[in-house]
Amino acid sequence: MHNLGILLSGRGSNFLAIADAVEAGRIPEARIAVVISNLADAPGLEAARQRGLTAVAIEARGRKRAEHDQEIVATLQAHEVELVCLAGYMRLLSPGFVQAFAGRILNIHPSLLPAFPGLEAQTQAFDYGVQVTGCTVHFVDEQLDHGPIILQRSVPVLAGDDAHAVAARILEQEHIAYSEAIARVLSGRYEIVERRYLPRS
Ligand code: GRF
Repeated sequence: MHNLGILLSGRGSNFLAIADAVEAGRIPEARIAVVISNLADAPGLEAARQRGLTAVAIEARGRKRAEHDQEIVATLQAHEVELVCLAGYMRLLSPGFVQAFAGRILNIHPSLLPAFPGLEAQTQAFDYGVQVTGCTVHFVDEQLDHGPIILQRSVPVLAGDDAHAVAARILEQEHIAYSEAIARVLSGRYEIVERRYLPRS
């Protein structure tokens, strides 16, 4: 059984899509071992509890990033987490965290990276005037929204759209993409060459 650890800071719709995929068997032999948030009042944490999952708030409370991250790492290890999935986790990971789970942390970002990293990616893309945008699931390294790309899904920007409409269209694709990427990674049937994800049969 593959143990997943989810980190979130907000509403948790990607977490819920992953939980649904696990229940439906679309992520074979996986279970969500723990859901962690840096914010005690994150709606995603309550949603996790309602599903009967272990949900833990680990607040930063003015602590140093490395120290806060160390507590998260210890919690993930205590739950024997194999793969960490950032799902709207609004903090940069410290190098110690990234090293503790090297090649075993995923993130989802609402743009076609390397375009529009950082906050409000959907609005950045819309304001720039792109006609195609989307989402990216990637491995996490020490730089923001940067590691090797596992999977991308594109969406069109249509006449009459505003940034909210584009964000909603991207989110639908995020909910499909994340579970598929997790299943790919857990299958182990890939290699990373330089920064390219190459499927292996
Ligand atoms: C998503 O748009 C995700 O791509 C970004 O943060 C948002 C989280 O949304 N990293 P949710 O909490 O999963 O609904």
